[in-house]
Amino acid sequence: PSTAHDETFVGAIDQGTTSSRFLIFNKEGEPVASHQIEFKQIYPHPGWHEHDPEEIITSVQLCMDEAVKLFKRRGYSRDSIKAVGITNQRETTVVWDKNTGEPLYNAIVWTDTRSSALVRELKTRSGADKLQDKCGLPLSTYPSVSKLLWMLENVDKVKQAYENGTLAFGTIDAWLVYKLNGGPQGRDGGVFVSEPTNASRTMFMNLETLDYDNSLIDFFGLKRDNIRLPNIIRSSDAEAYGSIASGSLTGVSITGCLGDQSAALVGQKGFTPGLAKNTYGTGCFLLYNVGEKPVISKHGLLATVAFNFDGTPIYALEGSIAVAGQGIKFLQNNLGLISSSAEINDLAASVEDNGGCVFVTAFSGLFAPYWIDDVRGTILGITQYTQKGHVARATLEATCFQTKAILNAMEKDSGKALTELAVDGGMSNSDLCMQTQSDLIGIPVIRPKMRETTALGAAIAAGFAVGVWKSFDELKELNRVGGTTFEPKMPAEKSAEMFERWEKAVKTCSGFV
Ligand code: G3P
Repeated sequence: PSTAHDETFVGAIDQGTTSSRFLIFNKEGEPVASHQIEFKQIYPHPGWHEHDPEEIITSVQLCMDEAVKLFKRRGYSRDSIKAVGITNQRETTVVWDKNTGEPLYNAIVWTDTRSSALVRELKTRSGADKLQDKCGLPLSTYPSVSKLLWMLENVDKVKQAYENGTLAFGTIDAWLVYKLNGGPQGRDGGVFVSEPTNASRTMFMNLETLDYDNSLIDFFGLKRDNIRLPNIIRSSDAEAYGSIASGSLTGVSITGCLGDQSAALVGQKGFTPGLAKNTYGTGCFLLYNVGEKPVISKHGLLATVAFNFDGTPIYALEGSIAVAGQGIKFLQNNLGLISSSAEINDLAASVEDNGGCVFVTAFSGLFAPYWIDDVRGTILGITQYTQKGHVARATLEATCFQTKAILNAMEKDSGKALTELAVDGGMSNSDLCMQTQSDLIGIPVIRPKMRETTALGAAIAAGFAVGVWKSFDELKELNRVGGTTFEPKMPAEKSAEMFERWEKAVKTCSGFV
């Protein structure tokens, strides 16, 4: 390793659904040190999913300290880390007391469906059909607002803080920035900010103004004065995110922040309209850059912010799939079919095809483009012939089928068919899964060599603010060589037949809760 004094590095916090990580990137976009910690998933009842907000902070801090230790052991100086960026699981909702910084409840995770009855009621209110035009999202259990409303109805401490006007509400980015800056003891009594790729997932933000919209807040029956919402700032900003108050990176500025799916689009360098990426993480999210004007979907997709680096926001159409890696974890932790996620590829490859099995992995209902909340995970087509390998294959295929349905919807919304799909995330490591994906969508699937694109996106947002990188052009070369392309090989009739069976399976199991 080099110890050159002029080398500069950028750190990236990647606070995901199942783990927290910290990576340190050089100017070439290569990670030189990293650390990852899995944290507790709390499932108190079927459909409920929580995180401990304090554990999220301690896991992030530990990751930073451990990665910096490794960085130093490799001969680099801590002072060469010029800035830190944040990327995070979106929608997950944290509420805390603005005066003390104490969380008032566990974080309710984006996958949680406890608010489904409440959402059904919201859908009957006048004006419900107009919400999506303003905020880009349809009413469902997925955005933060339904989780907040549930807490206001069911958690006394939250109700009380709302009545007293001390209720702070934020997505994970806001919580992280607030706590990393030292909480209420931090600058100005607490750095309380969010940015558009996260704030647009609450249903409170207007996509055009990039600010909170009182008509949205009114629709949900909330009083604006009773709730403290973080200031929405740019995704890249040298000052406004403050700096790290404790640990091995004390004093280093936080200068960029992006929701994880937007970060992956940036990390894949999807800067221009027409480019798209699909990230197979806990869930799977396809984002398609539509340029400077939001496109409101008519076919079950979301309109969201891709990034806002310089005051000109760039928008994306999004297809969200709730279960991807989560399905593999289910085979590992709940059914014991594999002992690590990496084994899924070999187990799936132990059979030639799905043997007639279709697994609708609707653990949280189905998201895009279906938006069915009264469906639960269902395996169809089991016979005496069915082996573990068939179930493994059907698990991988479930995400690939939903990606196909999303691309169909995207083509209808945008009038254009995608010609290739950039991929990343854990499940993209499975060659079999990526080949299946290409077969089902009939276009090449391109997997980069370095797949830490989400963290790289956060580093790019942070690096832009402090001049580590100055233009999109300069970034073109990052992570460009050494990837793998999967070309479609399956006859089109065969893949159409498989997809038809999937759609039939979705219909068959809808309404079973
Ligand atoms: O919208 C939820 C998303 O941000 C979570 O991403 O990577 O944990 O599947 P991931």
